[in-house]
Amino acid sequence: MYLAKRMPRDCFYLYKGTAHDAPSIQFQLPYSLPWYLRSPKRLSMARLFFAIFVFILSLHYFMAPNLAMSRTTLTSDQSALLALKSSMNLNNHDLLANNWSNSTSVCNWIGITCDARHGRVKALNLSNMGLTGIIPPELGNLSFLAKLDLSNNNFHGELANELHQLLRVELLNLSYNGFSGEIPIWLGSLSKLQYLSLQNNILGGFIPLSISNLSKLVTLDLSSNHIGGTIPSEIGQLWQLKTLNFGINKLSGSIPAEIFNISSLEVVNLAYNSFSGNITAELGALPQLRIMMLQNNFLTGSIPLTMFNNSMLQDINLSNNNLSGNLPTNICYGLLKIEQLDLSINDFSGQMPSNWHECRVLTSLNLSYNSFNGGSIPSDIGNLTTLQYLYLGMNNLQGEIPFSLFNMSSLRVLSLFSNNLCGSLLKEMCHHIPQLEEFTISYNFFEGNIPRQIGNCTFLEKLSLVHNSFTGTPYTRKYILPTKSVSSSINLFLLL
Ligand SMILES: *[C@@H]1O[C@H](CO)[C@@H](O)[C@H](O)[C@H]1NC(C)=O
Ligand SMILES: *[C@@H]1O[C@H](CO)[C@@H](O)[C@H](O)[C@H]1NC(C)=O
Ligand SMILES: *[C@@H]1O[C@H](CO)[C@@H](O)[C@H](O)[C@H]1NC(C)=O
Ligand SMILES: *[C@@H]1O[C@H](CO)[C@@H](O)[C@H](O)[C@H]1NC(C)=O
Ligand SMILES: *[C@@H]1O[C@H](CO)[C@@H](O)[C@H](O)[C@H]1NC(C)=O
Ligand SMILES: *[C@@H]1O[C@H](CO)[C@@H](O)[C@H](O)[C@H]1NC(C)=O
Ligand SMILES: *[C@@H]1O[C@H](CO)[C@@H](O)[C@H](O)[C@H]1NC(C)=O
Ligand SMILES: *[C@@H]1O[C@H](CO)[C@@H](O)[C@H](O)[C@H]1NC(C)=O
Ligand SMILES: *[C@@H]1O[C@H](CO)[C@@H](O)[C@H](O)[C@H]1NC(C)=O
Ligand SMILES: *[C@@H]1O[C@H](CO)[C@@H](O)[C@H](O)[C@H]1NC(C)=O
Ligand SMILES: *[C@@H]1O[C@H](CO)[C@@H](O)[C@H](O)[C@H]1NC(C)=O
Ligand SMILES: *[C@@H]1O[C@H](CO)[C@@H](O)[C@H](O)[C@H]1NC(C)=O
Repeated sequence: MYLAKRMPRDCFYLYKGTAHDAPSIQFQLPYSLPWYLRSPKRLSMARLFFAIFVFILSLHYFMAPNLAMSRTTLTSDQSALLALKSSMNLNNHDLLANNWSNSTSVCNWIGITCDARHGRVKALNLSNMGLTGIIPPELGNLSFLAKLDLSNNNFHGELANELHQLLRVELLNLSYNGFSGEIPIWLGSLSKLQYLSLQNNILGGFIPLSISNLSKLVTLDLSSNHIGGTIPSEIGQLWQLKTLNFGINKLSGSIPAEIFNISSLEVVNLAYNSFSGNITAELGALPQLRIMMLQNNFLTGSIPLTMFNNSMLQDINLSNNNLSGNLPTNICYGLLKIEQLDLSINDFSGQMPSNWHECRVLTSLNLSYNSFNGGSIPSDIGNLTTLQYLYLGMNNLQGEIPFSLFNMSSLRVLSLFSNNLCGSLLKEMCHHIPQLEEFTISYNFFEGNIPRQIGNCTFLEKLSLVHNSFTGTPYTRKYILPTKSVSSSINLFLLL
């Protein structure tokens, strides 16, 4: 339906904004204190609980490893590893089958690193070895283990409860396997964890509250699983977190404002879930945030102005939400490092932002599938010397394509389909745009002849001109590309 031809507008009509169209984006005040700290009474209760909590935590710290040490030795490390070995159904030609043998110390086995001081197994790294198996409960006996990396294999089954005994573990990488069952609550007892990745498994259940206990976490990656429910606001207690990746799950509810209180955050990925509600102003204020992936959710409201003020942001993807409102005219003013900006498939309206030249390192801009009303394509986009991808299709843009766009030495895709654009294509259009691979202007009101000189765009692979008012002889690939060799034009996908 969206490709339906609309009535042409006057080609030279230029949209003039009125006072009513001025950006009126609102943003909320940041919370100053969480509710539980607002009344003095609650404050003292909170302190008491905190003291008890620290006491229990320290008991745990001093006693648990000692208990473990008295129970386990290098021999029990060996039997834990042999239990793992026998869970893996190895063939004779598998590396581990012969290497993991009783004839040498486990410290010489492939994938094992021992601790110089205690002579115990401190790292187990079997990543990328094509292994199949389950995690046996004995693995929980590796009480000196600091790093466990089983990533990118075919381990499956549930995460053995006994792993909660790995109190020294700092890195747990179980990504890219077939682990199933629920995200275990006991993760919250691995209080030294700095890196936790369960990415790309088939884990379900919810994000356990206990995760907020892991105050040393720097990376938390639960992406590409089947996790449901909401994000607990206690996640805001992970004050050292740099990477938070919950992308591609079944999470819903609103994005808790507390996340945006973690000032160390550099990467937030919540894409491909069912989050709803507004994006709060705190998000834009994160001082280290570089990457923000919120695409494919049900977010509503307007983008808080603070986001456009965040000079660390490099990559913003808000594609495919229900966001609306106007964008600031001077959109690049604070986004000094922005490289990729994708606001496509939303309901932004008003005039398309016109001041682009300050986005000096922008490589990809996608504003397609929105409702910008009237207005022409801002000519200063042509000043972006690093821009490679420009998608403005399915809007209500009017007027001609500014010639500055054909002066972009790095541009590879120019996609302007389904607008109210008009004018004709100039013979010189391909003289200064050497990298152009895709030129899509279908469903507009262009007229005149299609210049043969389009063939001067020698990298063009996709040319889509359908549903315009071009005149003249019917064109063939041969007509347009008379000088090109067959091999270099073979991929050209022509729609005339
Ligand atoms: C955000 O962090 C500050 C300082 O760490 C704290 O005082 C405030 O209560 C936190 N706000 C929320 C909403 O968690
Ligand atoms: C196992 O592999 C390691 C590292 O390649 C090697 O040093 C060791 O000698 C091997 N052990 C056996 C028993 O093959
Ligand atoms: C290796 O040693 C363990 C005990 O340390 C023993 O149970 C096991 O049978 C031995 N395996 C082989 C193949 O000798
Ligand atoms: C495990 O080994 C792989 C390949 O040798 C390496 O890329 C990876 O960084 C190691 N993991 C850890 C946690 O050191
Ligand atoms: C290792 O773990 C298993 C299963 O959790 C347990 O039955 C066994 O007693 C432990 N062995 C040692 C030597 O700690
Ligand atoms: C965890 O494993 C994945 C997949 O093998 C890898 O890409 C990633 O770099 C690993 N993380 C660390 C910290 O080694
Ligand atoms: C946090 O850790 C402490 C000590 O490890 C534990 O007693 C407590 O139950 C944990 N809290 C949560 C919410 O898991
Ligand atoms: C969400 O944003 C819209 C428009 O930006 C605003 O009218 C509404 O009050 C906001 N809702 C909440 C719950 O903050
Ligand atoms: C943007 O940043 C400037 C300077 O840091 C600050 O004065 C201004 O209040 C910020 N505006 C918004 C909307 O956050
Ligand atoms: C933003 O996300 C959408 C949906 O996943 C994806 O198709 C698009 O390539 C992303 N944009 C950028 C600039 O990476
Ligand atoms: C944009 O480029 C044009 C032509 O190269 C130049 O005249 C103009 O000053 C530039 N504008 C800005 C704001 O840099
Ligand atoms: C541009 O195209 C015209 C007509 O197809 C051709 O004669 C001319 O040689 C081409 N110029 C370049 C630089 O490829």
